[in-house]
Amino acid sequence: MIIVVTGANGQLGQAVQAVLHTHQIVAWDLAQVDVTSLDAVRKGIESVRPQLVINTAAYTDVDGAESHPTEAYRVNALGPRNLALVTGDAGIPLLHVSTDYVFDGTATRPYHEFDRPNPISVYGASKLAGEEAIRALNPRHFIVRTAWLYHVHGQNFPNTIVNLANRQPLRIVSDQYGSPTYAPHLAEAIAKLIDTTAYGTFHLAGSGGGTSWFEFATSLFHALEMTVTIQPVSTCDFPRPAPRPRYAVLTSIQDPHIELPPWKEGVQAFARAVRARQ
Ligand SMILES: NC(=O)c1ccc[n+]([C@@H]2O[C@H](COP(=O)([O-])OP(=O)(O)OC[C@H]3O[C@@H](n4cnc5c(N)ncnc54)[C@H](OP(=O)(O)O)[C@@H]3O)[C@@H](O)[C@H]2O)c1
Repeated sequence: MIIVVTGANGQLGQAVQAVLHTHQIVAWDLAQVDVTSLDAVRKGIESVRPQLVINTAAYTDVDGAESHPTEAYRVNALGPRNLALVTGDAGIPLLHVSTDYVFDGTATRPYHEFDRPNPISVYGASKLAGEEAIRALNPRHFIVRTAWLYHVHGQNFPNTIVNLANRQPLRIVSDQYGSPTYAPHLAEAIAKLIDTTAYGTFHLAGSGGGTSWFEFATSLFHALEMTVTIQPVSTCDFPRPAPRPRYAVLTSIQDPHIELPPWKEGVQAFARAVRARQ
């Protein structure tokens, strides 16, 4: 299959390309095709004629989106709208990646696909607008919501805290809960999903019931055999420009039911990848 992957240099873009290597991948990042340009998207799709488009391109700076809302909406809403318009016209399926931050975090149980989104940040609202554009413009869509994504390459929580490990004690938030997701595990799940025509919205995130940033950090340092003193702090001790959902653990009740490995297995796989890189 000829597959266009946008956001190809990003964490998930790289993981998806590695997993789908038996397909003919056309990798687009900002330098090749800016998804905010309808004209560029149209010309790109017309010249490649793919059988599937996987959109991992995004404005992912959650705090930056509060002060740069137009930029966030352009990449996270207009970009998916352009891709959906062009692929919808051509009858090409579109797999788009969205986020747990479309939810407000007031739930007391994991969010499933039919729970009502209610974003509390510009980033979350811009991602929800992208989902809505896709649903309206291309019926052949997979919208994959994921969470707390990380890869050995990329700017993410694990790489940040490992780099900060010499500044002990590390203060880590212990009252926000989510589903850490190792990008290669998500890429494997996406590979299974695109083998189907079961279009719709899917929650694909590390399984195992979710955890806090503090417990995630503790598991990471344990897996990396690093002795680091970490101090649990509350969200109000750690003010950030964008509010985060307090509880955004994801679960799936979709059919087909595709489950990722438990988040702790993701941590182990990440630690192995870090050691292999050294
Ligand atoms: N990271 C997380 O914790 C997380 C959690 C939940 C959901 N997600 C979602 O998962 C998906 C993948 O995230 P990720 O962490 O892999 O993202 P990432 O590493 O930030 O990669 C995003 C890529 O998109 C590119 N891009 C930005 N603007 C573009 C444009 N206008 N046209 C084309 N490409 C553009 C970026 O290029 P430049 O680097 O050159 O800007 C970058 O290579 C996103 O949809 C994100 O919203 C992420």
